Amino acid sequence: MAPSTGPDGARRRILAVANQKGGVGKTTTTINLAAALAEQGRRVLIVDLDPQGNASTGLGIEAARRERSSYDLLVGQEEAAGLVQPTAQANLSVIPATGDLASADVELVDDPSRARRLQRSLRDPGLLADWDYIVIDCPPSLNLLTVNAMAAADAVLVPLQCEFFAMEGLSQLLTTIKEIRRGLNPGLAIEGVVLTMYDRRNNLSDLVARDVRANLGDVVYRTVIPRNVRLSEAPSYALPAIVYDSNSTGSLAYRALARELLERGARAAA
Ligand SMILES: Nc1ncnc2c1ncn2[C@@H]1O[C@H](COP(=O)(O)OP(=O)(O)OP(=O)(O)O)[C@@H](O)[C@H]1O
Ligand SMILES: [Mg+2]
Repeated sequence: MAPSTGPDGARRRILAVANQKGGVGKTTTTINLAAALAEQGRRVLIVDLDPQGNASTGLGIEAARRERSSYDLLVGQEEAAGLVQPTAQANLSVIPATGDLASADVELVDDPSRARRLQRSLRDPGLLADWDYIVIDCPPSLNLLTVNAMAAADAVLVPLQCEFFAMEGLSQLLTTIKEIRRGLNPGLAIEGVVLTMYDRRNNLSDLVARDVRANLGDVVYRTVIPRNVRLSEAPSYALPAIVYDSNSTGSLAYRALARELLERGARAAA
């Protein structure tokens, strides 16, 4: 498929937020990056593709509004447009997730094109006309769900926690991306790597950040997401931190990340 051009000239509009390590900030990044893009006037759709449903919960989608979910998108191949739920924030919507997503790989085992189901659903010109960005929150695994997300995406955005073993597992993630390029999605790019939970009082955070930059270079965003309690509190108020505490250091960081992503997109398109 030819690269599509958004209002910013940004070509990469379907982003898979992925890292098979658990608890590195995928969901926090999905919600707050999406919220920051929405705040800047972009129309953003989050697809919660994690059976844990943390993004859906963090956006205040209660159980009664999850009767139709990303399970219906993936397994049922229902039209995405009919599954979209509004959030408290303007320009930001979500297709929520439920626990039944966990059995998708078993249910789809007989479908030879099971890895392309999300690609078929999301790469629909009608849907893409409605959204400037579609951000997919992946589970902490390189399973069929994450493979579907990468097959559907223009690019992968990788949150990396500033801790000792940050780079561990990254080679496996990069190998998976290469495999997806070979078969399912030759155009898949790496949108960027974002360092999360950076603690400036901790020398280790700084060492890890330097090590990651030395290894990965420019693909690492200049913006670093600090450890900030507001980011962890916000989901219990069913709001993005960007809305819950707009001037917290976490919110400011995710706004800066959104700006950097838009700038990169504009540069790539130039
Ligand atoms: N920058 C941050 N500062 C403080 N707490 C954070 C930050 N980022 C994430 N957290 C908290 O760390 C925990 C893990 O974050 P998050 O849920 O975003 O990770 P995840 O990669 O989506 O996890 P999983 O792999 O389980 O899906 C959550 O409790 C979250 O609120
Ligand atoms: Mg998560």
